[in-house]
Order: sequence, then structure tokens, then C-alpha cells
Amino acid sequence: MSLLSLAIAAPRPLGPPGRPVLGNILDFGRDLNGFLERCAREYGPIVKLRMVHRAAYLIADPELNEYVLLGNYRNFVKHQMFFSRVRRVFGWGLLSADGDQWRKQRRLAAPGFHRDRIAEYGRIMSDYAAELVGEWRDGEVRDMYVDMRDIASKVVARALFDEDVAGDVAEVGSAMDDLLGGITERMLHPLVAPDWAPTRNVRRYRRAVARIDKLVARFMSQHRKNLDERGTLLAMLMQARDEDGKPMPDAQIRDEAVTLFVAGHDTTATALSWTLYLLTQHPQWQATLHAAIDQTLAGRAPQAADLAVLQAVEWTVRESMRLYPPVSLVARQAVDDCEIGGYPIAAGSLIYISPWAMQRDPRYFNDARDFKPERWSDGLDSRLPRYVFMPFGGGPRTCIGDRFAIMEAVLLLASFVQQFEFEYAGDKPPKPFASITLIPVGGVPVRLKRRSGATGK
Ligand code: HEM
Repeated sequence: MSLLSLAIAAPRPLGPPGRPVLGNILDFGRDLNGFLERCAREYGPIVKLRMVHRAAYLIADPELNEYVLLGNYRNFVKHQMFFSRVRRVFGWGLLSADGDQWRKQRRLAAPGFHRDRIAEYGRIMSDYAAELVGEWRDGEVRDMYVDMRDIASKVVARALFDEDVAGDVAEVGSAMDDLLGGITERMLHPLVAPDWAPTRNVRRYRRAVARIDKLVARFMSQHRKNLDERGTLLAMLMQARDEDGKPMPDAQIRDEAVTLFVAGHDTTATALSWTLYLLTQHPQWQATLHAAIDQTLAGRAPQAADLAVLQAVEWTVRESMRLYPPVSLVARQAVDDCEIGGYPIAAGSLIYISPWAMQRDPRYFNDARDFKPERWSDGLDSRLPRYVFMPFGGGPRTCIGDRFAIMEAVLLLASFVQQFEFEYAGDKPPKPFASITLIPVGGVPVRLKRRSGATGK
């Protein structure tokens, strides 16, 4: 059936009313996840939205998610409007590239994330966890979001660059804050000043990119001195050769390195921050974890080889990512006219899939809003339709770092919980704010209580 006859014959999907001119764009800025969740429940499985003049659709159905992310993925490319606004950060790296260029880059980067390779990074993760836990004092209150960002940036920097960013953490942290601020602005605001504009915000954003670029350039030049002896992700990118035997241009290596650095640390940091917050709200589950960890590890520090037996820790991370998916929105743009679920979709339309809304859907999860890690203990994973639980996205563009992230989250959390109990020390809960990751606004202030007899050496 042609699109024209479909357009005439098919009913239009319904959706919430939008504002004159702006459409639903302000709803996105105010409370993106809450808004999309309400839309999915009220109007799903396809919800009609509008972003200023552009048609947009929220898809909230496992089969249709699969169709967009896998079945017809070539017709649904990355959100070009957004990525063109943040080209300065991500360039044409894996996250933002499309088509043949993306396919080639993904092929070249994939070996760096192979299971065996990831296992080697387990040591880095355990070492940094021990270092952080060594700094924690009994009874002190610390913002876990700050600590998790620091540790996650150290882990990814070591795996990527073989560099200890300890000396640069303050520099990297503040550059990242400015960078994420700039990215969020470009993601959520309809009218953002162009990159050349001499405004304060744009200047801060440009400076942040320049600082990260400088760091990456330094790491690249250090690598050149002894490339063959390095076992890092950066070395792998620098040594990669395409079918014609050509290396990646330096600019492309920079784009991939910055992409992996940005994509690889704030995601894991938010996952761990929300997990620790949830643990403070569920002391009984903390006790369950203590017992499981003590029994499995008998006081020694967790290692990559323990992953398979630290199941209760993994359920905890999964459950936390179900309720607070670090990437709470997956966005695409239709290349050609097409149809989704019988509805005509015009070329250029924006397509949104909300892991937040899917993973809180009571059709798939009992007590969907409750934190119940034990729900993952009896094969829920294999009973759920695919493309319901999707913290790492899905299809060919699924997260390349998913194994890395799970291993990191499980090893770090096991080390923390082995030695400490966590008590929430804030006046009100952190507020989830959907930027490029799901930021806990207000931080996650936690009082640390050393467990008696904890060693973990
Ligand atoms: C809990 C941690 C993480 C979460 C929840 C997460 C989530 C995601 C999601 C949902 C996507 C797909 C986005 C889309 O389809 O538009 C993605 C892609 C990606 N992630 Fe992750 N991620 C995490 C950790 C990491 C780590 C540790 C790395 C690297 C070290 C990484 C690197 C990437 C890259 C490069 C892509 C783009 C892949 C491609 O398009 O080929 N992520 N991630």
C-alpha cells in the first residue's frame, strides 16, 4: 500500500494537545520522563507529538520498538537535529554516526569490547573501588553522585587511555559538568545559540570541549611513543585498519575516544548513584546483599571471576536501571516515508522510545514502581517480551559498552556494600532529570556506616 493511500485510509495516532507553535517541546523540558510515561499509558502504543513544526511519535510497544531498532533500523537514523547541535563534542563517533560510516566504525571498535578483553578491565575496576572505599570514613556524609562520577571517569580513562586521571579529576569533572550542561541545553531547548555565538553559555561549552580535546590529544601523543605495548581501547583504535589497510584518521580517533569517554562514564555513574540511593531506601535488601556478599567472597575483594556468583548484586543493578534507566530516552529520525504499526510516518519525523515508560509499565512488571531486585531471580528476563527491559537500547546500535558497564557496576557495588552500610542523609529524594543521562538533581548525600568486621582486602 502506498504511503498516500495509507495516509488516507489509516487512522492517525492520538496524542496530548501541544502549545501553539511550540507543540510539546516545553513538556519535554519540564518533566520528560513523567510526560512520556503519561502519554504512553493514555494514548499508546503510538503517540502523536509535535516538536515545533516537526512531527514526532512516541512508540511504546515491544514489537514496534523492535521494528524501529532492529527490523527496519536502516530507515531510523540517529536524531540528526540533536547530533548536529553537539557535533563539536561527539564529532562523527559511534554514538552519532550513521550508515556505512557507523557500520565501519562499529566493526573496528567491537574487538575492544569482546568478553575476554572486558575481563581484563575487571582488575582496574576492583583497584579503584578499593581506593575509594579506603577514603571513606565511618559516619561521614558524602555525595555519592560526586564519588561515582569520579570513580567512573577514572575507570574509563584507565581502560581507554591507560592513564590515571587522578591528577586531572577536578579538571575533567568541571569540564564534564560544563559539557553536559551544554549538551542538555542543546537537547531540550528549542532555541539554542549557535556554536559561534559570543554568549557566556556558548563560550563555557566551547571551552569545555577544548579542555577535553586537549586531554585526549595528550593521551594520543603519549600512546604514539609505545603503541604496541599498550593494551588500551585507544591503542586498539589507533592500530585498527580498515579493509584497505588504512588507519583511522586522527580526527576520527579523537571522535571515538571522546565518545567512549563521555558515553562510558556518566552512564555508569548515574546507574550506581541511583542504585545506592535505592539501597538507602531498602535496608532489608542491603542486609540481603551483605549476607550474599559475605558468603560468596568470605572477606576478600570481588574480582571479575566472581561476576557469575554475585547474582544478587546484578539483580540490584538491573532493578535500579529498570526504575532509573541512565539513558531514559532513545531517539531516532525517519529517513524515508514509512509506516509504523499501520500508521503513516513522514520522512524527517522524530521517533522516541522511552525505556523509562516501558520499564515502569504494569503490563510487564508487578508492582512496577517498587524496587524489588528479587523479581529478577526466577528467569523474568527470559519471560519478558524483548524490547521491554532495554537500559542499553537494542538492535545493531545497542550499547557497545553494556558488558563493561554491568561488570563495573557489579564489582564496584559489591566492594562498597561489602564494607559499608548506606543511610540517606538528604532532606528530600534526588529528583531525576533527563539530560543525556538521568541526573539525580540535588545529588545523593549518604551517611556511610562501616560494617563491623568488614575487611575486603
Ligand atoms: C550503565 C551504563 C550504560 C548505559 C545505561 C548505556 C546505555 C546506552 C544506550 C541506551 C545506548 C543506545 C543509544 C541509542 O540507541 O540511541 C548506548 C550506546 C552506546 N554506548 Fe552505552 N551505556 C552505558 C555504558 C557505556 C559504556 C561503559 C561505554 C563505553 C566504554 C558506552 C559506550 C556506548 C557507545 C559508544 C554507544 C553507541 C553505540 C553505537 O551506536 O554503535 N556505554 N548506551
